[in-house]
Amino acid sequence: MADEYEIRRFRAADKGAPDYPWGTDWIRAVGFGFHDSRRNDEFVDKLMAMYRADNRELTGVYQTGEVAPHSLGAEIPVATFGTLRKNLNIGYGRQLEAQLVTAVTVRGTHRRQGLLRRMMAEDLAAAKADGLAVAALTASEGSIYGRFGYGVATFERTVKVDTGPRFRLRHTATGTVEIADRKVLLDLAPQVFEGVHRLTPGSIVRQEAYRQTVSGTCGRDGAEDESIKCALHYDAAGSVDGYVSYKFAGWDTKPYTIELVDLVAATDAAYLELWQFLGSIDLTGRVSWADAPVDDPLTWALEDPRCIESSDQRDMLWLRILDTGKALSARHYSADGSLVLGVSDGLGFAGGTFILDVTGGSARVTEAPAGSRPELSLDVAELGSIYLGAVCPVTLASAGRITEHALGAALKARLMFAVERAPHCLTHF
Ligand SMILES: CC(C)(COP(=O)(O)OP(=O)(O)OC[C@H]1O[C@@H](n2cnc3c(N)ncnc32)[C@H](O)[C@@H]1OP(=O)(O)O)[C@@H](O)C(=O)NCCC(=O)NCCS
Repeated sequence: MADEYEIRRFRAADKGAPDYPWGTDWIRAVGFGFHDSRRNDEFVDKLMAMYRADNRELTGVYQTGEVAPHSLGAEIPVATFGTLRKNLNIGYGRQLEAQLVTAVTVRGTHRRQGLLRRMMAEDLAAAKADGLAVAALTASEGSIYGRFGYGVATFERTVKVDTGPRFRLRHTATGTVEIADRKVLLDLAPQVFEGVHRLTPGSIVRQEAYRQTVSGTCGRDGAEDESIKCALHYDAAGSVDGYVSYKFAGWDTKPYTIELVDLVAATDAAYLELWQFLGSIDLTGRVSWADAPVDDPLTWALEDPRCIESSDQRDMLWLRILDTGKALSARHYSADGSLVLGVSDGLGFAGGTFILDVTGGSARVTEAPAGSRPELSLDVAELGSIYLGAVCPVTLASAGRITEHALGAALKARLMFAVERAPHCLTHF
């Protein structure tokens, strides 16, 4: 990167503090990068308060010389990069703190000059120096992040569910569902999500924005979103263990459709019973959901699984292993055995040959002596892909992404890395 740029890192400041405008300019630059309409001051203040709640670190790249006359001022960063740290469920309820990367933008007139590469390399190095074993992100395009060692680790899909007469579930309700004021989710949403998070491999603790959005407190334009409705699920003892936040798509959308904003259920029964509720909403014949799991119990609970029209199955969470020994030791494994993994890492954080010895599901990880021959060779991106059990090593071997030096080693990895239930990440960041 030429000297014409300077990188600055800062935390969101309190309103009124002298450096508060650093953050507001940064937020405006992010909005520009994602083609958003210009946000008003009130909305920016709300976002900044959420950033403070998450203790985000904001990175901006600034022009150091004279900016072109009439163009955006030097105080508006030409590139942005945000991070926050939250726990990732790595299976069997185990948690690993992850460096979450978000708000990555480079102004079109400054692109392809290595700004992203520099911000990413510096950030990953800092996260590793702080002792973190993984970083994660969600990607706008599939071609950007593999080169930095990120691999696709979970998936999601969009579903449209026919809730007309065909919609019947093989499930006898054990709890109840009631409508609530959307605002109760400000408090309830994080509590219910906590249960889901503990249960679900691949889940990431949610950032502050979620409770604000799902409760309609901060809509897409920053104002209250009065279109949001909310239903709660109560277990047999009367505790709330699930909720759905939703909108009616309007009388111009046919069939009349309920659009899910968020569906969070901490038990299998709550999940199915919230779907029973959604299927019973009068005057509507369809429910659409953009964050649905790929391996979905709803499919198997429906008497007619073709009620689900599934589309746009896509990558969701991308994982970047920063410390192979630490990440492998942190996991609980579904099968015992020994596996020698040869990991390559172009950025030099996590490469080496590692012996993974698993007994009773617990791992002992050692660096293999020089010259050892691995049973599987893979790039750190593929290690990120198989780490949460959602991507099959045998398939990656078929694709030429993993090399199997010992027959059956990919299948052994598949069995060992399997997790206790289908991984799914309900946290976009
Ligand atoms: C994606 C984006 C951040 C890239 O920034 P950039 O500063 O131009 O990237 P760099 O110059 O550091 O490029 C790094 C490498 O990534 C490659 N690359 C960058 N963007 C790419 C893209 N969209 N598709 C494929 N490759 C891409 C570059 O060719 C370069 O490859 P190399 O190092 O192997 O030669 C920028 O184009 C952008 O802001 N896009 C719009 C917002 C967005 O999509 N953000 C991502 C949110 S998840």
